[in-house]
Amino acid sequence: VGTQPKTIGVLTSGGDAPGMNACIRAITRAAVYRGLCVVGYRFGYKGLLAGDCRPLDGRSVSNIIQRGGTILGSSRCAEFESEEGRRKAAENLRRSKVDALLVIGGEGTMNGARELTEQWDGQIIGIPGTIDNDLGGTDWTIGFFTALDTALDSIDKIRDTAEAFDRVFLVEVMGRLAGDIALGVGIAGGAEEILIPEMPEDIETIGQRVRESKERGKLSYIIVVAEGFCKGGAIEVAKRLSEITSLTCTPCVLGHTQRGGSPAAYDRILGTRLGIHAVEAALDGATGVMVGEIDGNVALTRFEDLGTRRRAIDPAFWQKVNVILRS
Ligand code: F6P
Repeated sequence: VGTQPKTIGVLTSGGDAPGMNACIRAITRAAVYRGLCVVGYRFGYKGLLAGDCRPLDGRSVSNIIQRGGTILGSSRCAEFESEEGRRKAAENLRRSKVDALLVIGGEGTMNGARELTEQWDGQIIGIPGTIDNDLGGTDWTIGFFTALDTALDSIDKIRDTAEAFDRVFLVEVMGRLAGDIALGVGIAGGAEEILIPEMPEDIETIGQRVRESKERGKLSYIIVVAEGFCKGGAIEVAKRLSEITSLTCTPCVLGHTQRGGSPAAYDRILGTRLGIHAVEAALDGATGVMVGEIDGNVALTRFEDLGTRRRAIDPAFWQKVNVILRS
């Protein structure tokens, strides 16, 4: 059993996600309560490479739980992908006498954390923060619930104009590799079609369904498209569907609006719960693991076991959802 950590470093990396601030706040306060010092690195792994950090205390994380983004800043850092970069980061961590590093982010962040374990002998613990909900080792990632609500709000508004104009709309939501946001808002927004990378579909067939629905007198027709469904996303699908159906098919890309905004209740609760647990895990000597929530319980998964697993969509569920989309 090694000695307990005295100083904890924390950073947020990759696409920022609402609820990251709740997590920073929980980590800081739980750590201070246990007598630890906390330093926050600026702009993710970039700050680790530049040695850009500042001390955090209970007061410095006041009044942030309701704010989107991350008070620490975030980035995607190409330099950290090289071994030399990670060696430099390790040196900076040693120089700042950090004993345990807590990283909040998505898949790229967890991969970086796993690779850093080869250069640095301090403790490293990951916490899942990404709107995409596409990580193994957890049922939910911090930010997903807010992104769903944000996208849903837009879809409800688009429905009004789609109905008034008797028009087909294609709404593109984020998710380069995973269709979780599209599936969630497609169901909750009563979409007529949900197009996700996990379930490839032929555009001719979709066009046929649109035409049939229109012939049956359906007014609005909303197609939720995950950005990773095909090259060109909703704009490309809209173009091809317009050609196939001779109807006006209007694309609307929601883009980065989905990453911002005040976090939904569950993103704050999840961020807080996982943040507290990450500090406790560090005090228990854990390293090389990500803290997640599985079946309602907090669980630790080794970085090696996170894999690049995308959530497989249950075909039976997918079929049932499709039955209720168009009637
Ligand atoms: O990882 C979150 C995410 O928002 C993805 O859904 C999206 O594909 C990507 O980040 C966009 O990244 P960037 O802001 O770097 O363009």
